[in-house]
Amino acid sequence: MERRIREASEALFPRLVELRRAFHRRPELAYQEFETARTVAAFLDESGIPHRTGIAGTGVVARIDGAHPGPVVMLRADMDALPIVERNAFDFASEIPGSMHACGHDAHTASLLGVASILQSIRAEIRGSVRLVFQPAEELVPGGALRMIEEGVLDPVDGQPAPQLAFGQHVRPDLPVGTIGVRSGAFMASSDTVRIRIRGEGGHAAEPHRLAADAVYVGSQTVIALQAVISRNRPPDAPSVLSFGRFVAGDAPNVLPEEVLLHGTFRAMDDEWRYRAHDLIRRVARHTAEAHGAEADVEIGVGYPALVNDVREAAFVRDAAVRFVGPDRVIDLDRWYVAEDFARYLERVPGCFYMLGVGNEAEGIVHGLHTPRFTLDEEALRVGPAFMAFLAFSRGHAA
Ligand code: NI
Repeated sequence: MERRIREASEALFPRLVELRRAFHRRPELAYQEFETARTVAAFLDESGIPHRTGIAGTGVVARIDGAHPGPVVMLRADMDALPIVERNAFDFASEIPGSMHACGHDAHTASLLGVASILQSIRAEIRGSVRLVFQPAEELVPGGALRMIEEGVLDPVDGQPAPQLAFGQHVRPDLPVGTIGVRSGAFMASSDTVRIRIRGEGGHAAEPHRLAADAVYVGSQTVIALQAVISRNRPPDAPSVLSFGRFVAGDAPNVLPEEVLLHGTFRAMDDEWRYRAHDLIRRVARHTAEAHGAEADVEIGVGYPALVNDVREAAFVRDAAVRFVGPDRVIDLDRWYVAEDFARYLERVPGCFYMLGVGNEAEGIVHGLHTPRFTLDEEALRVGPAFMAFLAFSRGHAA
C-alpha cells in the first residue's frame, strides 16, 4: 500500500504545485475564502469525492468511506491568508494587495486535496472513513475551528459517525524539506492578549513633581513588575512568555502624557497556570499603578488554548513518519510558543498536529512564517500529502 500511495502522490505532484500556486496568487483573508473554497469544491467534484460547502461560511467538508469498518479519522487544512504585503518576486506572488499566504495555508489546502485524491484511489482498502476538513479563518481569533465545531464538524453527519481522531499538519521553514517534526503532549501555546491602560496626570516634562503620577514611568514599572509575575510565580513545568510589543505613550519629548497603553501577548502551555497568571497580571498591574498614584485598567482577551497532542496518537504519527520518510528525517520537536486553532479539535478528540519541513537553506528558503518573504520548497508537496494519506490509512488499520 505504501508503494501505491507514493505512486499516486508522484502522479499528483505537478497538479498540487499548480493548485498551491493558484492559491498563493489569490490569497483570501479569514472568512473571505470564497474563490479558494470554489477551487477546493471543484477539485473534489472532479475526483468524485462527496462534500458539503458553506460550513462556517466558506468551509468545505469532504468524506471518503472505506470498504471496511473502522474509525472515523478527521484531517484538517486551513485556507486563510494574512494581511501582509508580499515581498517575493516570483510570478505567482500575491495579486491581492495587502494579502499574502505567509503561513503556508496555500500548501495545507493543496496538500489536503492531494490526500483526498490519494485516499479516494485506495478507498477499497481503507478501514473506517476519513473526514477532510477545509477550514476558514485560522488566523482570526476566536478561529474558524470553533465555528466549524459549532456547525457540526465533530458530530455524526449523514450516517458517518463522529470523528474519533484528528490529525493536522503545518509547514515549518526552519525544518529541512523532506522532514516531519513531532512532539508528544503540550506542543503549542495558548495565546491571550493583555491590554493595560494606565491613567496618570499629564504635564510639563520638566516638572514631574507637580503631577499626581507620570504615566510613562508607571507604565515602565508595570512592564518590569509583570515580568516578575512570570519569573517568580510560574511553576517549573509550565513554560510561558509575556511580551509587550506595543507601548504607546505621548507625542513630544517634553510633554508627559496623561495616559499610556501597554499591549502584549501572554502564552502558556497549561490552563491552570494560564488563568492563575491572568489574575496575577491584573493584580500586579493595578497595584503597581496605585502605588505610584495612577490607575490601571486591565483587559485580558482570551485567545486559542494550548495545543496538546495525545501521547498515543503522537507516538503513532512518529512511528508512521519513521516508516514513511525514514528515521533520519523525523525530528523530535521542542515546544513552540506559536498558537494554532487546531487546539480546539484536540480539546475534544485525541489526535496530533505535526510539522512538515519546507525549508531549504541552499535555495535561500529560510524566511519565517508570517513574514513578507516567507515561501516554501514545493518538494514538500511530494511528502506532505503522501504522508498524511499514509497516516490516515495506517491509523484505520491499527484500530
Ligand atoms: Ni498557520
